[in-house]
Amino acid sequence: MNDEQLIAAARAAAAQSYSPYSNFPVGAALLFGDGSVVTGTNIENASYGLGLCAETVAVSKAMADGVRGGLVKVAVTGPGEEPITPCGRCRQVLNELASLGGTDPEILCVGPKETHRVSLSALLPYAFGPASLT
Ligand code: THU
Repeated sequence: MNDEQLIAAARAAAAQSYSPYSNFPVGAALLFGDGSVVTGTNIENASYGLGLCAETVAVSKAMADGVRGGLVKVAVTGPGEEPITPCGRCRQVLNELASLGGTDPEILCVGPKETHRVSLSALLPYAFGPASLT
C-alpha cells in the first residue's frame, strides 16, 4: 500500500459521505503496520452538532473490530482547494489509537494541488492520552 493507494482509499470513502448539510465530503484512510487499511467518511445528522468526522468514523470502525494500535499513516481528503487537516477532536481520537501502539503516525493532509505531511505529534503537541491517567 503506497501513499497514492492510501489516498485513493480515502477518496473512495469520501464518495460514501453523508454530508447533505455541509456538502463537504471528507474521507479518511488509516494504514496499520500489518498493511491493513480501515476507512471512514463523515456522517452528518439533522441535529447538526451530532455529525461525525471521517477520521473519527475510521478510528471507531477499527477499534470496534478490536484494533488497538499499529497506526502508522493516515490519509485525509476533502473537497476544498487547500489540504485538509484533521479537526481538533479527530486529532485527539487518532492520538488514543496511536498511543495504544506507541506510534506517531504520519498524517497526509491531501489537497488538489499538494499534500502536507505532518506527524500526529506535531498536530497535537503535549497530547493528553492514556499515559496521562497514570
Ligand atoms: N470534517 C471531517 O470529517 N473531518 C475533519 O477533520 C474536518 C471536518 C467534516 C465534518 C463535517 O461533516 C464537514 O467536514 C464540514 O465541517
